Amino acid sequence: MTQKGRFITLEGGEGTGKSTQLKLLQRALSSAGVEVTTTREPGGTPQAERIRNLLLQRDSGKFDPLTEVLMMFAARREHLVDKIWPDMARGKWVISDRFADSTRAFQGYGMDIPQETIEKVYALVAGDFQPDLTFIFDIDPEAGLQRSLKQLQVTQDATESTEDRYERMGIAFHTRLREGFLEIAKKFPDRCVVIDAAQDIDTVHRAMLDAITERFGVTPVAEEARHG
Ligand code: TMP
Repeated sequence: MTQKGRFITLEGGEGTGKSTQLKLLQRALSSAGVEVTTTREPGGTPQAERIRNLLLQRDSGKFDPLTEVLMMFAARREHLVDKIWPDMARGKWVISDRFADSTRAFQGYGMDIPQETIEKVYALVAGDFQPDLTFIFDIDPEAGLQRSLKQLQVTQDATESTEDRYERMGIAFHTRLREGFLEIAKKFPDRCVVIDAAQDIDTVHRAMLDAITERFGVTPVAEEARHG
């Protein structure tokens, strides 16, 4: 595949402000004349969103962790083939809220699936394709979980379809997750940039734009965060 576009991923634990930053980044890149498309995992295409519903809703029951890996990668394959690769081939920059590092962290470091197993499935699904740049949003898990649960409460009353399966796993899980993401950043230093997500919105946004300018030579103008 000839790669014309770029692929940027946003990764990290819960409540790190990733989604807000994704919107700010999209606007800043668009103002710089870059054609941008944003997406998320698991999901991003109709078929992959179906798998997301099976995985994340409270009434989904419990899957075996390896089954969970395979389902995440099944959704990822749909996403790559139906959206990420075609959009990149058209020259678009694709920004995804989560990608394979989330499987490495949640199912790997969080649920003890060996990293080698995950890499085998990765190779089968994506070959040697990798994101061009990955932002790892790092925050103290207590603070992150509080932010994330508060957000869920304001956006919806909990029902059987509430997407909070992972939020409800205890603090020990989320601590392993944080350590996992930092390990991943060390393992893939060429593409990973760790962002201190405890900083204010504008500071985080500017740090991300700096990394983009440094790597891709594009200088987007910072968006002012709309607070409140
Ligand atoms: P989010 O939309 O809040 O980020 O929810 C997605 C959830 O799915 C989040 O808790 C992380 C989890 N997840 C995995 O466990 N493995 C994966 O590979 C991906 C992409 C997400």
